[in-house]
Amino acid sequence: MEQLLTQIKELKKEISAFNGGDAETFRIKYLGTKGLVKSLMGEMKNVAAENKKEAGQLLNEFKLFTEAKYELLKSASTTNHQPQTSNIDLTLPGDPVPLGSRHPISLVKNRMISIFQRLGFAVAEGPEIEDDFHNFTALNLPENHPARDMQDTFYISQNPDWLLRTHTSSVQVREMEKGKLPIRIICPGRVYRNETISARAHCFFHQVEGLYIAENVSFADLKQTLYFFVQEMFGETVKIRFRPSYFPFTEPSAEMDISCLICGGEGCNVCKKTGWVEILGCGMVHPNVLDNCGIDSNKYTGFAFGMGIERITMLKYQIKDLRLFSENDVRFLDQFTGAV
Ligand code: PHE
Repeated sequence: MEQLLTQIKELKKEISAFNGGDAETFRIKYLGTKGLVKSLMGEMKNVAAENKKEAGQLLNEFKLFTEAKYELLKSASTTNHQPQTSNIDLTLPGDPVPLGSRHPISLVKNRMISIFQRLGFAVAEGPEIEDDFHNFTALNLPENHPARDMQDTFYISQNPDWLLRTHTSSVQVREMEKGKLPIRIICPGRVYRNETISARAHCFFHQVEGLYIAENVSFADLKQTLYFFVQEMFGETVKIRFRPSYFPFTEPSAEMDISCLICGGEGCNVCKKTGWVEILGCGMVHPNVLDNCGIDSNKYTGFAFGMGIERITMLKYQIKDLRLFSENDVRFLDQFTGAV
């Protein structure tokens, strides 16, 4: 009994001072199946009968003492990973990661696509490096026609037949060649022209062109389609007007203006005091174009139109300089975060 008492005393001291490892090491050493508490319990059989009760109490109390220390070590090891000890306060808000935004050209392009899709137009795409036939010849611009100079073209020096498309009408040609009628497509995409860069012109820009070919398509259909587009894009109060124009691939041809969004038609600097701004070219597809693409021009008629996405975007968001679109200045682009 004496011996047991000293052992317990010694062990208690040892345990109180324990900080030589983690809680698990402690558990194995003292509380495990081969631990010291267990082996002390084993000593009970050597204790004289009259002392057994007292020894039992002492041992129990020692066991509780050891378990309490174990709990302490366990909770200390978990609090060690708490933020306070590593100086990081997880309750503070994080560093904000700035949200990107869609480019305004993409925003407007997507919107244009969705408007025309509601009228049953499908999206068609084609190559940006084109051959002369699809960009010019099929569109009723015979070789050496002066109209080819109208659109200053980037030619590919390796092959004089290759060029950077000057409009997405080339995609319309590719679609007509497939010979599946009726055709109701819009062709969004990037186009290239050899122009001096300024606030109003760039060597590349984006277009959405449209083509509808079926039996009995008329100018009235063209007019109504574009009117619907403009109202959806700019609101119901906007007015439109058509002016006669010339394109080799349409006959008759027209340019379409909308009433100035800035002054509402009163006349201001943006509309050069006319109350109108031009937004697109259009017309009835020239029979030669249909024939060039293998479509029976006696049976089918169609309309086509084409507009610059930059122009529509500038009007929609009142942007004055076209160069902003390609400068990648986040102060400009940021303003479209969340816009749809
Ligand atoms: N392709 C013409 C251009 O790029 C636009 C246009 C398309 C005009 C269809 C009339 C009909 O300027």
